[in-house]
Amino acid sequence: MLDLAIDQQKRLRQALGTFATGVTVVTTVDEEGSPRGFTANSFTSVSLEPPLILVCIANDAATRPVFMGSEHFCVNVLAEDQQDIAAVFASQNRTRFEHISWRAAKHGSPLLDGALTHFECRRTISIDAGDHAIIIGEVLDYGTSGRSPLVYCSGSYVEFGLLQQAMEAGQHGVATRISAIVNFDGAIPMVRDPGTGNFLLPAADRVGTEAEPDTLVGKLSANGIDAAIPFVCAVYEDANQNTHNVVFRGTARTVETSRLKDFELIALDDIPWEKLADKPLKQLLERYLEESEQDAFGLYVGDNMTGKVHPLKAGA
Ligand SMILES: Cc1cc2nc3c(=O)[nH]c(=O)nc-3n(C[C@H](O)[C@H](O)[C@H](O)COP(=O)(O)O)c2cc1C
Repeated sequence: MLDLAIDQQKRLRQALGTFATGVTVVTTVDEEGSPRGFTANSFTSVSLEPPLILVCIANDAATRPVFMGSEHFCVNVLAEDQQDIAAVFASQNRTRFEHISWRAAKHGSPLLDGALTHFECRRTISIDAGDHAIIIGEVLDYGTSGRSPLVYCSGSYVEFGLLQQAMEAGQHGVATRISAIVNFDGAIPMVRDPGTGNFLLPAADRVGTEAEPDTLVGKLSANGIDAAIPFVCAVYEDANQNTHNVVFRGTARTVETSRLKDFELIALDDIPWEKLADKPLKQLLERYLEESEQDAFGLYVGDNMTGKVHPLKAGA
């Protein structure tokens, strides 16, 4: 009974998570004059006349009583290179402001350096709503820098600039290899290398469409796999293969098993670790399993030896 409730909550959270948002850090000062703040994506514009915005804060958030007691607060909309700040302000870290540079806005709330936009507000109404409180604020002052936004969707941060840079990195005379982790009920399609018998992810030289049989989506479709692969989970150069690799991740809405000719559905609990084609694939699947468990995904950018996973949540 309890498990079912948890499962339903997780599914609702995942469905809600498909709504892409920006990411903010909402700040204020407590009674001792110390800066306080937390990461929030529930920020919404409410009214232009008068200028009102809202943000929702969880009843169990440590900063909730501080926000409920303070007259002013500031919503800092994060720029795309501020993922680390989002992570710090979503973590259990209690020295959050020591990790960033900031200054006091006109009415005292912390204004984060490098933020895309800020809205300094006077709290007008707070409404209890289920396990959160809705805090409505009147915008007293605001400013914007014209930088690119940090975007959050389905548990992942999306950095448009970084993705663009990573995708372009492959256009220098190296073959591009596009592959995908397509989750269908806890199993993923894999293909056996005819020479070695080792397992690989489904791959092609471009993403393509169902109507193009030589592309990734075309191959999946020809095998009865109706896949949605909107997220990039790794971009890396493989010097051994002389390939530029982009790995997408997503899910299959349906799989017609009778049409599976080129792929085998491999249960994630049963991955043949000793029979994977190469080390990058092993590391990728290890990370995928870990991240699926935590429902928080990262993007790896690098080569087959070194690289950086752009993280999502602190502690994740
Ligand atoms: C992208 C993202 C968005 C979040 N949005 C909210 C939100 O809108 N409201 C909220 O109460 N918590 C939100 N959280 C969770 C809080 O940031 C997190 O629980 C934080 O630790 C709260 O800090 P506190 O306990 O010090 O108040 C979000 C976390 C992330 C990573």
